[in-house]
Amino acid sequence: MMKILDQTEETSPAISYAGLIERIEILRSTLRWSSRLERADIDKLLRQATSLRDEVMQLSHKERFVQAASAAEPQDAAGQSRGARRKALLDRSFIFEGTFGDNLRLLESLEIAEKAAPTDLPVLIDGESGTGKELMAKVIHANGARSDKPFISVNCGAIPDNLLESELFGHRKGAFTGASNDRKGKFESAHTGTIFLDEIGELPLAGQVKLLRVLESHEIQRVGSDEMIAVDTRIVAATNRNLRQLSEEGKFREDLFYRLSVIHVTLPPLRERRDEIPLLIAWFGDEAAGTLKRRPVRLTPRLRDFLLAYAYPGNIRELRNVMYRISCLAGEMADVEHLPLDIRPNAAGVAGVAGANVPASGEQPISVANLMSLSDAKRAASDDAEKAFLERGLREVSGTVAELARRIDMNRSHLQMLLKKHGLHSKDFRNRNGQPAKYGANERDEDDAEG
Ligand SMILES: Nc1ncnc2c1ncn2[C@@H]1O[C@H](COP(=O)(O)OP(=O)(O)OP(=O)(O)O)[C@@H](O)[C@H]1O
Ligand SMILES: [Mg+2]
Repeated sequence: MMKILDQTEETSPAISYAGLIERIEILRSTLRWSSRLERADIDKLLRQATSLRDEVMQLSHKERFVQAASAAEPQDAAGQSRGARRKALLDRSFIFEGTFGDNLRLLESLEIAEKAAPTDLPVLIDGESGTGKELMAKVIHANGARSDKPFISVNCGAIPDNLLESELFGHRKGAFTGASNDRKGKFESAHTGTIFLDEIGELPLAGQVKLLRVLESHEIQRVGSDEMIAVDTRIVAATNRNLRQLSEEGKFREDLFYRLSVIHVTLPPLRERRDEIPLLIAWFGDEAAGTLKRRPVRLTPRLRDFLLAYAYPGNIRELRNVMYRISCLAGEMADVEHLPLDIRPNAAGVAGVAGANVPASGEQPISVANLMSLSDAKRAASDDAEKAFLERGLREVSGTVAELARRIDMNRSHLQMLLKKHGLHSKDFRNRNGQPAKYGANERDEDDAEG
């Protein structure tokens, strides 16, 4: 399947999956309006097409996850490469629930999640907004013994204080004005499953006392009732605040903090795992293409440079939103003008990201604070140097990847990965007649992704 698709699609196999998804979508829309089939048959076929589409999405995801590690890569202290660790997780049938990326700190979090999942120990996940805390909670649920039981999510920050107790524990009819019926709370709904207490740092002190009691006794009381109800619920809590600090300040009970954080996972902000940005761009571009039923959007070099250097205060959610936005607004090729206005730099500003150029008069440079830390700036500069080097090399060999690999003494698949990382297409460096330069009888680039 991949072979056939590779001839029509010019980039990675995951993009080919997007092509396949596109075809399934076309099939679905044709089916939907079919005049020759009975409604029941149409529905049945649509259901099958939908599950096929989901399967392809999964495959695409899995493939990317493994592929990203293909080339030579640094080993960690234990002498294991990232790819090996990720593949080990896959081999153990770990369920990622759409978590994507191969940054060392993310892998560590996933490995902790894997170990914690089958236990009933409480887990506390912290990290900035949009770093994937809820996703991680779902990963823990999906890999545990309760995966076929309910996963109930409660946003402690979104419920008014006076309703919180009833929301969590339920109430009896007449317990307060407006309580016109008996009602069960989230803890009872999550019985035998997992309750996800999001924004736990916002839980008022009174609620904290009650939660502590549940953690100790595994029993709840509906508001207005004396009856104790046993609940068997696994607790996963998340916060973007520093609970330890809040507890030192007396705003969060220390005993509850220790109870909740038996297993503590901290998700790093995206700007501290920049190595994942190229992969996430490709992944979300692909995902957005699937959702929007379009071909994956291509990025101009200056948009790409911007996306690689931007600081992402909204973390992965922000990157995902940006990819959906540009996939929706742009035609074949997206550029900086498709970015949201509040982060959109002017042309000079983009140059400033990479080369610290002084903008032309009258144009507003983007502030350094919006962009990145000094270490990020250094990394971006080193990325730029790498890209410029590869571009020059490709020009010299007229786009023959095998030849370039030989000249710079680099493993070909590693070189392919670097080209992909920088969005470089060897065919853009071919001679005018579209042929790679001839370096001998056997110099065809069999593994050239563009080939
Ligand atoms: N590693 C990842 N791979 C793929 N998608 C991710 C990853 N991490 C987060 N996402 C996606 O980013 C978005 C934000 O993730 P999530 O809602 O889990 O973040 P959060 O930490 O709970 O944010 P908040 O603090 O704002 O509630 C979701 O769409 C999620 O699917
Ligand atoms: Mg969240």
